[in-house]
Parts: sequence; structure tokens; C-alpha cells
Amino acid sequence: MADGKVVGLDIGTSMIRVAIGEIDPDTGNIRIAGTASRKSAGLRNGVIVNIEDAKNAIKETIDAAEQNAGTTVESVITAIGGSQIESQNSRGTVPVSSANKSTKEISRADVERVIECATAIKVPDDREKLHVIPQNYIVDGIGGIQDPIHRMGTRLEAEVHIVTAAKTIIQNIRSCISRSDYILDGVMLKTLAQTQSVCHQDEMELGSILIDMGAGTTDVLLLLKGAPIGTFSIPVGGNLVTNDISVVGGISTAAAEKIKIENGCCWVDSITKDTDLDVILPGVGGRAPEIMKKSQLAQIIQARVEQIFTLVKVALKKNVGDSIKELSGNIILTGGGAMMEGVIDLAQKVFHTTSVRLGVPESLGGIEEDYKRPDFATVIGLVLANKSLASGKDRSRRTKGRPVHKEKQKGESVLKKIFKSLF
Ligand SMILES: Nc1ncnc2c1ncn2[C@@H]1O[C@H](COP(=O)(O)OP(=O)(O)O)[C@@H](O)[C@H]1O
Ligand SMILES: [Mg+2]
Repeated sequence: MADGKVVGLDIGTSMIRVAIGEIDPDTGNIRIAGTASRKSAGLRNGVIVNIEDAKNAIKETIDAAEQNAGTTVESVITAIGGSQIESQNSRGTVPVSSANKSTKEISRADVERVIECATAIKVPDDREKLHVIPQNYIVDGIGGIQDPIHRMGTRLEAEVHIVTAAKTIIQNIRSCISRSDYILDGVMLKTLAQTQSVCHQDEMELGSILIDMGAGTTDVLLLLKGAPIGTFSIPVGGNLVTNDISVVGGISTAAAEKIKIENGCCWVDSITKDTDLDVILPGVGGRAPEIMKKSQLAQIIQARVEQIFTLVKVALKKNVGDSIKELSGNIILTGGGAMMEGVIDLAQKVFHTTSVRLGVPESLGGIEEDYKRPDFATVIGLVLANKSLASGKDRSRRTKGRPVHKEKQKGESVLKKIFKSLF
């Protein structure tokens, strides 16, 4: 392993992306040395269904990123999402250790014990714990403590968020990576990685909803007080929009995808007489090409994207219930589907809030900045979340292929309760 590098790999349903991060020797910060994206293969709805096809696509993308960065890759860190992810909140309590009896000061060991206790939930044999993220500590009944070390107390409680994944899914990822002859540094929940590249700390404190608009799935992460409180996935995404265009227009999926990306809009009201251009639908089997107005195309797209957002809204209600009222940050749209024209307007309408924005990775330096787009949120997030691997601080994790957790930091807390009117 060449020192000073961390490589993010996003194995998506439609695309595979790689970002190679390295430590900038001048600043000591992470910068992006190179990126690549290639068409994906062997995946359905975010899950690997053909290891060999996926492996080939992964290898091809890493090769391209190596060339782009002028370096070689030995290990990667990857992300998973989709329907195979589940999460739950758990709680543990321990007495503060008797070793600290004279001072009753909480030590690091006490924190480790309470986290272990909160983590000790039984998960089914076919699942494994991917992340255990501390949300909050409670000392002698007083909650809202983010770092209890050195506090005085006798009873320490921890609230944690536990994310689990189906073992077979992780096993398939491991097989793909090892067959490609790379080392797997770790596997991270995709939306959690994205928070690192597209969410601000204050938004996560105030409570936000991150929506990753992928091709086969739409994945959602709920954040409050700087930590995740829920995650879920809806098995529909941009592919369905493409499919609608293909069926209505009587054209191939490939042609429909191209038209969607070049002329698609999901907010009909934004199209004026002047911008209502003609969109050419290619002829099939000798049939002459047809013309559709951009506004007609937008009607098809808007109906489907609106349905996807509505499904998210219904699932939010089911998953988090009344906690939704505590969220007062933003709805952050990311992933390839968030590049659709009009997506903010439509989300504002469906979720009844103006607090919607695009999640785009910010500049990290490096020569080219082609990663500043929503569909690069995952790989850039993976690099940022695991930059300690590049600085060599976390080398011990390399061999384990275990998830990498990130400690949260405390941000400010101002309440505007904008989500109150959501439902
Ligand atoms: N410019 C664009 N406008 C609208 N949709 C887009 C655009 N670019 C990509 N998409 C859509 O985004 C989805 C892919 O997003 P991505 O995050 O790459 O998905 P995945 O990770 O599931 O492969 C596809 O449905 C694709 O059609
Ligand atoms: Mg994606």
C-alpha cells in the first residue's frame, strides 16, 4: 500500500465511481488526486447479483481512476445501501467504574463499556452490525451530553444507532473486491458516507433528511443532534423515470435515458413558451422520428418523481413518526437523480417546506474538480469519512475489512422547527 491514500468505491446500480484521495503535503488536508466513473454491471436495485460482471466493471473503473490520478490503488473502501440495510436505536446503562470511586469521574473505559452494553442487541444470524453510532450520553439522568469523559457521575447511559446489513450482501462485496485483487478497507452505509461530503454539521445537529436519488433505489437517512436516527430505502429510482419515457415515447431505454438527461425536467411550471423546446424522439424500426414538447416530457417525469417523493414522505411518517417535528435543518437531495432540472421545486411542493437544497461535494483541491456533482457524493464522502486511513492513523483497520465509524462533533443548536408542517 502506497502511503497517504484513501480510495472510495461506489458500486451503484447504474454507475460505478471511484475517487482517489491523498494527503496534500503542503496543507496536510485531503485532496482528490483522480476520479473515474463507468457503467455498472451485475447489480439490481443496489445489490450485487452477478459477482463476475460486477467485478469486471469495478476493475475497469479503478483502472481508469488510477490512470486519471497517475497512481496505483491497492485498497478501497466501499459503501452499501438499498433494501438490505436496517437500523434501530438502542440504549445501554452501566455504573461508573469503581476504579474511579474517589472522584466518580467518567473514563474512556466507562464509555467503551456503555457502548458495548448498548450494542449488545441480538441480530438475526443472517445479518451483521455495520455501524454503532453514539447519539447521546446520559449521566445520572441528565441527557444531551455528547462527550461524557471527565464528567462526574455514578450512572452512565448511552443511546446509539445500530445499522445492520444482510451478511450475504457484504460477502458479495468482499468477493468482488478480492477477486479484483484489491484489499477491502471497510464497508460503510452509503448515506452515512454522503453526509461527510454534502451535509453541514449544523444541519445534522438541527435535524435533516438526506435523500440519495439513485437509479434503482432511493435511500434516506434521518439525522438529528449530529447523529443518524433512522434509515430506510425505497426500491424505486431514476430507472423508473427512464422506463416511463421509453414506454410513452415508444423508444428504447437507452434513448429514453439520453433524452431524460439532456432535456428532462420535473417541474412543468418552470417551462415557459420560450423554453418549451422540441425534443426529438428517435424513430424505431424505420419509423420517422417524432417530436415531443419539453413540457410534455416534463409531465411524464414530474408524475413519477412526485410519486417517488411521496413514497419517501409516507415512509418517513412510518419510520420516524412524531420525531419528524424535531427536525429543523434541511432536506438534502443528492445522487444522480438530484441532477434533474426542477427537482428542488418539486421536493419543496411535496414536503411542504422551502428548506430543500442540493447535496453537492465541495471543492477539496486537486487538479480537476469534476467531482463537484451530486452523483459523486458517495465516493467523495467515503474519502472524507476515512481520511485517517490516508494519514496512516488507522492502518490497523486495513486488514479487518470492518466498517469505519466516525465520531460526531458538536455543532450549534438554533431551532426553527420548519418541519412541523410536514405532515
Ligand atoms: N443530469 C441528470 N438528470 C436527471 N437524472 C440524471 C442525470 N444524471 C443522472 N441521472 C439519473 O440518476 C440515476 C443514477 O444516479 P446514481 O447516483 O449514479 O445511481 P446509482 O448509484 O444507483 O447507480 C439514474 O437514474 C440516472 O438516469
Ligand atoms: Mg448512487
